[in-house]
Amino acid sequence: MTSRAATSIAVRAPAKLNLFLAVGPPAEDGYHALTTVFLAVSMFDTVTVSHVRARTGLRLAVSGPDSAAVPADASNLAWRAAVLLAQRSGIDADADIAIDKQIPVAAGLAGGSADAAATLVALDGLWGTALDRGQLAELAAELGSDVPFSLHGHVALGTGRGDRLSAVLARGRTDWVLGIARTGLSTPVVYAELDRLRAQRDLPSDGDPAGVLTALRQGDPELLSGALTNDLAVAALSLRPDLRRALRVGEEAGALGQLISGSGPTVAYLARDAEHAITVAARLSAEGLFASVRVASGPAPGARFARSAR
Ligand code: C5P
Repeated sequence: MTSRAATSIAVRAPAKLNLFLAVGPPAEDGYHALTTVFLAVSMFDTVTVSHVRARTGLRLAVSGPDSAAVPADASNLAWRAAVLLAQRSGIDADADIAIDKQIPVAAGLAGGSADAAATLVALDGLWGTALDRGQLAELAAELGSDVPFSLHGHVALGTGRGDRLSAVLARGRTDWVLGIARTGLSTPVVYAELDRLRAQRDLPSDGDPAGVLTALRQGDPELLSGALTNDLAVAALSLRPDLRRALRVGEEAGALGQLISGSGPTVAYLARDAEHAITVAARLSAEGLFASVRVASGPAPGARFARSAR
């Protein structure tokens, strides 16, 4: 007896923080050479894919608090992931894709990349294309700079456009409070702002992630708090001066340290442990600066099966 293939597969993928982000000058293609330390945190989008009748094509539905801000069409990175996987595997792209979006949109948390990574893994299972992790990572890199990390999860050093990953040793877990802004920031606009500011004045960049890597290896949040670095912060602050206050209140709320996540505007506050994170979160909520304040811990796994139905 042959086993019946799954009719529905759910995969969840995590949000990311950049604990270290050094940005080089733009290359000819407009992309910047990065040195970054990624940390996946426990905030997940879930992508559920199911079979449709042959030749129905792709259908996409998005649910969750930010769903109105997410296009449910061919411009969605998850849709593009489905098309790319089908093309490369020489099959028709027929599936229902449902995204439960819990990662805030345009927040510097790689939510769109998480959806693309989860879609690749889920459809690879549904369609039986059975690519190995390396092949999935290659497709991921074609979709976006952060997608390989969304697939990988945990902690990693990213170079190139951020898509070339190498292993990082991290001891224990780190606890964070995330201040989610009311409106998002566009990643290309933040990179362009950095280029503009750098053309005007000298903005030194420390390209050496050793401080963050040592702190992670030792599992020492105090050490980590002093090493958090983000070259994009100056650009995000230039576009959104109100973020200065959001950074300042972290200290008043007792956080060990804080940084803007990626291109922002999410501010990530580092806590000593889970209990401390809850205290810091309560104090930050009381400031009324954010659309929401959430706690999360890292490292979290990359895109992984959550459930399947036959
Ligand atoms: O790779 P991805 O499509 O996610 O990148 C979004 C935008 O972020 C790019 O269009 C580019 O403006 C900027 N970017 C960059 N250098 C990188 C990664 C992203 O300039 N290494």
